[in-house]
Order: sequence, then structure tokens, then C-alpha cells
Amino acid sequence: MPLLTIQGLPGPPLDVPAGTTVLTAIHGRGHAWMHACGAKGRCTSCRVRLLAGAEYLSSPTAAELGYRAAGRLGPSERLACQAVVQD
Ligand code: FES
Repeated sequence: MPLLTIQGLPGPPLDVPAGTTVLTAIHGRGHAWMHACGAKGRCTSCRVRLLAGAEYLSSPTAAELGYRAAGRLGPSERLACQAVVQD
């Protein structure tokens, strides 16, 4: 099972079943994480900066690409509610 390490969160890396969004994995462990639009890809409050392992996430969604084009999401950033952990 993929392991997800979030800097700044207490505890060990998260075991994340494939097909789970990063946001769901974080919330599943009981951590608070901003998600102002309710995980619909309509804000950027859930953004995460990837330090490694981007290849293990789904491709950026249309919402993420739109935010990148608008300069609201950096090239190494993803929306935790849109990024799905792959096998
Ligand atoms: S919670 Fe709004 S974009 Fe992820």
C-alpha cells in the first residue's frame, strides 16, 4: 500500500489505499486540513506542495490545470482533494 508523508503532521506516514485522494487520506487519519469548497476543486485551500513522488498521483485535473494557468497553483503543487494516489 502506498505511503504518504505529510511534513508538519504528527505521526507516522499514512498508509493510503490506491484510489484515495490525498485529502481523504489526511482526514482519514483524523488530521484537520483546509477544504473550503468541500473538496470540489473550486478553491485552492487544500493545496499541497510535492517534494517527491508526483508520479504516484493521478494527472492534474482540469481544475488544477486551470489554477496553474491562472498562476494560483505552482508547478509542484496539487490540490489534495483532486490528487488521487495510484498504485
Ligand atoms: S477543497 Fe477546494 S479545491 Fe480542494
